[in-house]
Amino acid sequence: MTDHLLGMTGLSKVDIFRYLDVAQAFVEVSERDNKKVPDLRGKTVVNIFFEPSTRTLASFDIAGKRLSADTINVNASSSSMQKGETLLDTVRTIESMNPDVLVIRHSESGAPHFVAKHLTRTAVVNAGDGAHEHPTQALLDLLTIRQHFAAEGRGLEGLRVGFVGDVRHSRVARSNVWAHLALGNKIRLIGPPTLVPADFIKVFGSDDVSVVHNLAEGLQDLDVVVCLRMQLERQDQNFVPNLDEYSKEYCLSERLLMRHAPRSVVLHPGPLNRGTEISGEVADGPRSLVLRQVNNGVAVRMAVLSILAGSVESRTMSLGR
Ligand code: NCD
Repeated sequence: MTDHLLGMTGLSKVDIFRYLDVAQAFVEVSERDNKKVPDLRGKTVVNIFFEPSTRTLASFDIAGKRLSADTINVNASSSSMQKGETLLDTVRTIESMNPDVLVIRHSESGAPHFVAKHLTRTAVVNAGDGAHEHPTQALLDLLTIRQHFAAEGRGLEGLRVGFVGDVRHSRVARSNVWAHLALGNKIRLIGPPTLVPADFIKVFGSDDVSVVHNLAEGLQDLDVVVCLRMQLERQDQNFVPNLDEYSKEYCLSERLLMRHAPRSVVLHPGPLNRGTEISGEVADGPRSLVLRQVNNGVAVRMAVLSILAGSVESRTMSLGR
């Protein structure tokens, strides 16, 4: 059976640490002058994106190239799906060309799972499906948090992590929450009732997840604050009166962080809407790990591709260990 990475749901702490450990080794590769390793030489990675993307697509593409794979990016808006082909026919056609890994982003929740069920020889990676999951983003967030706290002699466990903003539409928040639950961390979902409905926690079925509607109260003593983008493209009704009103109550400012969570670090998956969900001062300030996240994104995707394409042994060799 082919292995896939479809979500963080169901991944154990051991699975998560395996991805992070391999990724950490690739961070070092990405800092070398010569960033290319031969691990996936002769392998083919197809990135098929049915939604616009800048950083995630670039990150997967760079990751595949640094591993010496042949990478092909299919912009699905210009693909034959526009000519009426079904998703299944499209991916079966691609599988007939014998790729090793198919990375898929789609606006429908569950599309990568559907594809994985029907392909027989190709590993599938979910690069974001609707508001459902975005597992490589959760892994790169975890790697970033782990690196930060390692410097303070702390690990990834025993943390208080808050997600601020448009949790309802966020696949990043969902994947992260599943991962932090597997690690035994405490999670706070912070935002207006329309974007963080109180009964939302039922989805996770855990007492370790709580909902707070007031930003100052929600930030109290957090170690990690994950700021989420207002995802207007997924909002089919008015969830907030207008963006000005929203930012008055929920824009993450340095003043609030200093007062309520002075030692916290801030993450954001990008793209940032400065002045809406995050102030420029926070985004560019010392507690921001945003660029570190992007940097780690390549290493995480290298780890995912090399694990799923089955080359972790050769990776270890190429790293000279
Ligand atoms: C996220 C996504 O697409 O879900 N962005 C990303 O992958 N870099 C978050 C977002 O779009 O807000």
